[in-house]
Amino acid sequence: MASELRAERIAAGGDAIAREPDGRVVFVPGALPGELVRVTLVEERTDFARASLDEVLEPSPDRVGPPCPFVAQGCGGCSWQHIRPEAQPTLKVAIVAEALARTGGLRDAVVVAGPALATTGFRTTLRLAVDARGRTGFRAARSHDVVAVGPCLVAHPRLNELLDVEFPGAREVTLRCGAATGDRSAATDPAGAVLEARLPTDVATGRRAAIREVVEGVELHVSTGSFFQTRADGAAALVQAVAHAADGHVGAGPMVDAYAGVGLFAVTLGAGVSVTAVEWSRSSCADARHNLAGRDAHVIEVDVERWRPHSAGLVVADPSRRGLGARAAAVLAATLAPRLVLVSCDAASLARDTKLLAGHGYRHAGSTVLDLFPHTPHVEVVTRFDRA
Ligand SMILES: C[S@@+](CC[C@H](N)C(=O)[O-])C[C@H]1O[C@@H](n2cnc3c(N)ncnc32)[C@H](O)[C@@H]1O
Repeated sequence: MASELRAERIAAGGDAIAREPDGRVVFVPGALPGELVRVTLVEERTDFARASLDEVLEPSPDRVGPPCPFVAQGCGGCSWQHIRPEAQPTLKVAIVAEALARTGGLRDAVVVAGPALATTGFRTTLRLAVDARGRTGFRAARSHDVVAVGPCLVAHPRLNELLDVEFPGAREVTLRCGAATGDRSAATDPAGAVLEARLPTDVATGRRAAIREVVEGVELHVSTGSFFQTRADGAAALVQAVAHAADGHVGAGPMVDAYAGVGLFAVTLGAGVSVTAVEWSRSSCADARHNLAGRDAHVIEVDVERWRPHSAGLVVADPSRRGLGARAAAVLAATLAPRLVLVSCDAASLARDTKLLAGHGYRHAGSTVLDLFPHTPHVEVVTRFDRA
């Protein structure tokens, strides 16, 4: 059934929220706050509904035509291409503030936007789907179809050069490059398929493949099996935001880098400081040991929830989307660190963790939202917590 609705705000997943006359919430992908839209309900539940956007009757001043031509061909890689890039950080700040208010119970939390980052050519890691012919691309919106793209608006130029390489027999391929070094690597699922690809000879493949990246003047070794931030300038922005949130607490006692990956925060912030890096991936731990060689640093390969905490002057924690959860929050709080800096890539898990940390005496003291993923609703949030 078609109806006209006024979009009110943006929900965490990036859809707009509108209300029917009886107050029921309707999620409308592709609409923007303030817009009058004609929609068709596609899913109806008692307390909410989902709709498809038929027509924008009164467009927002922030609405733009997608800058990438592959959106018209169905590419689902970037779902916010209809929003002016300069307006996206403000929407992300609103998403985080709303999650902290609703789930975290903080009505007046300080939430600010971080510095502006490039909105094109930034991705130094690309995870691509592969079609039956071996061509790479992104999944179409709400579908398993693969839309071949190239050049990709958000990919680093060094990776765009690889988008016409075919990977017969692969389901997925991960391409990575070092923005500072020009290094490139490729890995496929299944692993053997990468051997069939006609890649330029400089592209590292295989079990030991790695790239080097430089962040804040420090070189990092990153193996294909290890997590690394999807953009080099974003990694630098994160380090700066974490340093700002840590304030005078770097060096005020041992530092714990929890969910350390290849040691991004331990390496860049922990010079001259005793550091414990906690990480469960074998590949990431091996890279972290390499990157922290010669430092007063211990890399511990264990689930954060099972780590036996020691006292610390600063904890930096950068968990995956699900956040810390109750057990890890308790473990990290047991360090009694006066300052804890949490890096969250999901607004809802940040809000849940904020509540959990409050239960251990850690007070929310401000969040900075970094726009590491322009043209998508994904957020990256650096939050400072002070121990009471
Ligand atoms: C978002 S990444 C952050 C990595 C690093 N801080 C960085 O910025 O490059 C999260 C990391 O936590 C690790 N991880 C996820 N859950 C974990 C757990 N329960 N215990 C230990 N490490 C975990 C993942 O392997 C990944 O390296």
